[in-house]
Amino acid sequence: MEKLYEGKAKIIYPGPEAGLVRVYFKDDATAFNGQKRAQIAGKGVVNNQVSAALFRYLEDQGIPTHFVKLLSEREMLVKKVHIVPLEVIVRNRTAGTFSRRYGVEEGRVLPKPLLEFSYKNDALGDPLIYPEAALALGLLSEDELERIRELALWINTLLKDYFAQRNLELVDFKLEFGRLEDGRLVLADEISPDTMRLWEMGTGEKMDKDRFRRDLGGVEEAYQEVLRRVLAGVYTKSDYE
Ligand code: C5P
Repeated sequence: MEKLYEGKAKIIYPGPEAGLVRVYFKDDATAFNGQKRAQIAGKGVVNNQVSAALFRYLEDQGIPTHFVKLLSEREMLVKKVHIVPLEVIVRNRTAGTFSRRYGVEEGRVLPKPLLEFSYKNDALGDPLIYPEAALALGLLSEDELERIRELALWINTLLKDYFAQRNLELVDFKLEFGRLEDGRLVLADEISPDTMRLWEMGTGEKMDKDRFRRDLGGVEEAYQEVLRRVLAGVYTKSDYE
């Protein structure tokens, strides 16, 4: 089948009709802008199903997303969008590049959720960008920026609650938004242990891609455990039908 696009972790194929595409989730993992590469067995299955469950939950709460339905263990059907070339990062606690950039220990609770934007541009290494610079570059409109801020903070509130019920703390995560044909903004891409930091409540054990980035071991097990908690009592196999 002809590919429309192949990224580091996913392949996009044409959908059954105009306006829809199929997303296939690979086991390939990359970190540090592609400098570290490996396969994480079963990761594609986990990320597809975790993303599907989260998109459904968010849709139920009124957040517009690109998600249509699951097609198989590794594939979902989504609405075709034009991605806004920004990575929208929401942080509840210090970690990762925030801690490195400002020289603060990981795990400090931020006084309120922090929004950061990176310019999606592999050649430049996805640099941090001021919202004003994104506007100046014409990456999005002022109205879209406002809407993205509002949606990202709302999604944070919803996901923090969702994971707290599963004994996981949502430390930070990355979102991408896209424009439908008619220009409406929807949440796109994926939301998975590849794109979130999840810490076990109480112990702070990392249950996300940091296990791969930092060679902590138990990577596959952590991904499977996140899927298990997400699926617990929520979805059944008939969801593929
Ligand atoms: O690396 P950093 O601390 O900036 O990452 C913040 C959050 O955004 C993490 O949850 C990370 O997994 C996610 N992220 C991502 N894709 C990127 C950069 C960050 O999913 N390209």
